[in-house]
This record gives sequence, C-alpha cells and structure tokens, in this order.
Amino acid sequence: MKRLQDRVAVITGGSSGIGKATAIRLAEEGAKVVIADIDPVSGEKIAAQVGGIFVKADVTNADDVANMYKVAFDTYGSVDIAFNNAGISPPDDDSILTTGIDAWRRVQEVNLTSVYLCCKEVIPYMQRQGKGAIVNTASFVATMAAATSQI
Ligand SMILES: NC(=O)c1ccc[n+]([C@@H]2O[C@H](COP(=O)([O-])OP(=O)(O)OC[C@H]3O[C@@H](n4cnc5c(N)ncnc54)[C@H](O)[C@@H]3O)[C@@H](O)[C@H]2O)c1
Repeated sequence: MKRLQDRVAVITGGSSGIGKATAIRLAEEGAKVVIADIDPVSGEKIAAQVGGIFVKADVTNADDVANMYKVAFDTYGSVDIAFNNAGISPPDDDSILTTGIDAWRRVQEVNLTSVYLCCKEVIPYMQRQGKGAIVNTASFVATMAAATSQI
C-alpha cells in the first residue's frame, strides 16, 4: 500500500519547480494530483505525466481558487491535500529603497493573499471530510535572511 493511495492533492504552482517535483512525488505515492497554475502548457504536460488533471487558476483570484477545489472534488470525490506553493520572486522585488509599490503589492497578492484564499476555500472540504492536510510554502528567507535584497 502506497502512503498516499487515492488521496486527492491540489498543488498550486504545479507547472514548475518545487510544485512539479511534488506532483511527481505525490503521484508516486499513489495520490491523485490536481495541478493548478497560470501556465497551462507545462501544467497539462505534467498532469498527463502523473495521471492527474490540470486546472487553470490564478491564485490571486478568489473565483479561480474556489473553482480549482470544486473541480478536484467533482473529479475525484475529496480534497485531502492542499499544497499552497505558487509564488513569485520578481527582479523588481528588491531593496525597500528601490522596490515600487506595484511590485510590493503584486508579491503580497501572489505569495501571501493567495494562501489566505486557498485556506479559506479548502478548509470547508476538509471539515466535512473530518480530515485533510495543508502545506503552505514560505521561504528559508524567513529564517535565514536573503542573499540578495528581497523586501
Ligand atoms: N526555489 C527557491 O529557491 C525558493 C526559495 C524560497 C521560496 N520559494 C518558494 O517556493 C515556491 C515554489 O518556488 P519554485 O522555485 O518552484 O518556483 P517556480 O517559479 O519554478 O514555480 C512557480 C509556479 O507558480 C506559478 N504561478 C506564479 N504565479 C501564479 C499565480 N498567480 N497563480 C497560479 N500559479 C502561479 C508559475 O506559473 C510556476 O509554475 C514559491 O512560493 C517560492 O516563492 C522558492
């Protein structure tokens, strides 16, 4: 028996990097994987590779976030794992002395508000099931500081 047999995992930012690697690993452990990302080209490819599905979703958009969990539930019958991993690190997110308010706001929306939206939408599924696991990606920068300026 695999460790995550038939658990349904929704991975935001699953089209690349850590999210992609997680999709492959969770599928190896038997999970049904739902990749939610703004990049459908890579997302569809990885979803096919892991035998899961891709849902186009911008994690800063409340309707998209609600929809991705609904699609996961309607397709597989539960939402057991929410990996809130989508995030950005744009070059204009730099020193506080040079970072403009638009870059600041964009990073807050994608990296932080998205986690609020995802938790808010997924927790009711998990409450009804009586179980579930949420993993929110932060950064080693939170505990070790950044090598380059990143306000
Ligand atoms: N790689 C690192 O060294 C590092 C360090 C610290 C923190 N992190 C965090 O880990 C997470 C994953 O990082 P990664 O290196 O795998 O990044 P990545 O750029 O390889 O992948 C991020 C994915 O998120 C998607 N994405 C971006 N904006 C989105 C949005 N609005 N809605 C939905 N999807 C969106 C992208 O399309 C991409 O597929 C991010 O939250 C990042 O901030 C990464």
